[in-house]
Amino acid sequence: MSYNLLKGKKGIIFGALDENSIAWKTAIKAHEEGATFVLTNAPIAMRMGQIKELAEKTGSEIIPADATNVEDLENLVEKAMEILGGKIDFVLHSIGMSINVRKGRHYTDQKYDFTDKGWDVSALSFHKVCQTLYQKDAMNEWGSIVALTYMAAQRVFPDYNDMADNKAYLESIARSFGYFYGKQKNVRVNTISQSPTPTTAGQGVKGFDGFIAYADKMSPLGNATAQECADYTISLFSDLTKKVTMQNLFHDGGFSNTGVSNEVMEKFMTEE
Ligand SMILES: NC(=O)c1ccc[n+]([C@@H]2O[C@H](COP(=O)([O-])OP(=O)(O)OC[C@H]3O[C@@H](n4cnc5c(N)ncnc54)[C@H](O)[C@@H]3O)[C@@H](O)[C@H]2O)c1
Repeated sequence: MSYNLLKGKKGIIFGALDENSIAWKTAIKAHEEGATFVLTNAPIAMRMGQIKELAEKTGSEIIPADATNVEDLENLVEKAMEILGGKIDFVLHSIGMSINVRKGRHYTDQKYDFTDKGWDVSALSFHKVCQTLYQKDAMNEWGSIVALTYMAAQRVFPDYNDMADNKAYLESIARSFGYFYGKQKNVRVNTISQSPTPTTAGQGVKGFDGFIAYADKMSPLGNATAQECADYTISLFSDLTKKVTMQNLFHDGGFSNTGVSNEVMEKFMTEE
């Protein structure tokens, strides 16, 4: 069902790799809700990914950009405004990657080159995206910028490794940039803290199956799916959430406020 929530709105969507990606589902939903947008991803991901199929489905153009490279981002923002015929109303930052995780380096044994790179891709890139938009005055008044994050920014999940620190930094950027962008242009900046979700990035975390099942049993509403994350993101891009800014918004079926659930307790009980 479509509510035309994004009718006439223009956007940039980062991070659609394949049909499991949260950004992919968000692009499909944004299209259904009447938006036009440009898709972007790292050049290497385009060779591996199926983004062309998504572009065809949604009538979008693709502009490659490494989100750590400011020149790429400047080119992206300029071209996006040309293609879309005006300033931007919404941006999704759906990017994350840890080389320490990929290479199996423990949190207490990081290779700092890997740490630097992962931080640049997963956290600082969000500042680079916001700063490029800001300096080019590319956002319309009451526009909305969203990045995706995970609760390891607040609580320890041992195998989330250095991504936990990256997510804490990312969430801080949303607050700080949200202040300046709000003052200058009435643009809102938020992060959505999503349940564990079976995507390429998600499955990189060790023991992901156990992790996802545990979160599901802990959450009164169950884990939030990628599709549900797309729905929630659309609401933040719409005009119905104009005064929501500088927030980290949990989209996790209630996990973050649950101490323990009966289902999890039952696994440990020795008496009837
Ligand atoms: N999957 C989960 O369990 C989960 C939970 C909470 C938050 N998140 C977050 O959601 C976001 C999207 O991840 P996903 O789960 O859809 O996985 P995904 O693997 O489909 O998406 C990650 C994307 O980041 C892109 N990327 C990597 N390096 C880049 C670079 N240098 N420049 C531009 N793009 C680059 C990849 O190409 C890919 O498209 C990430 O921020 C992730 O941390 C995921």
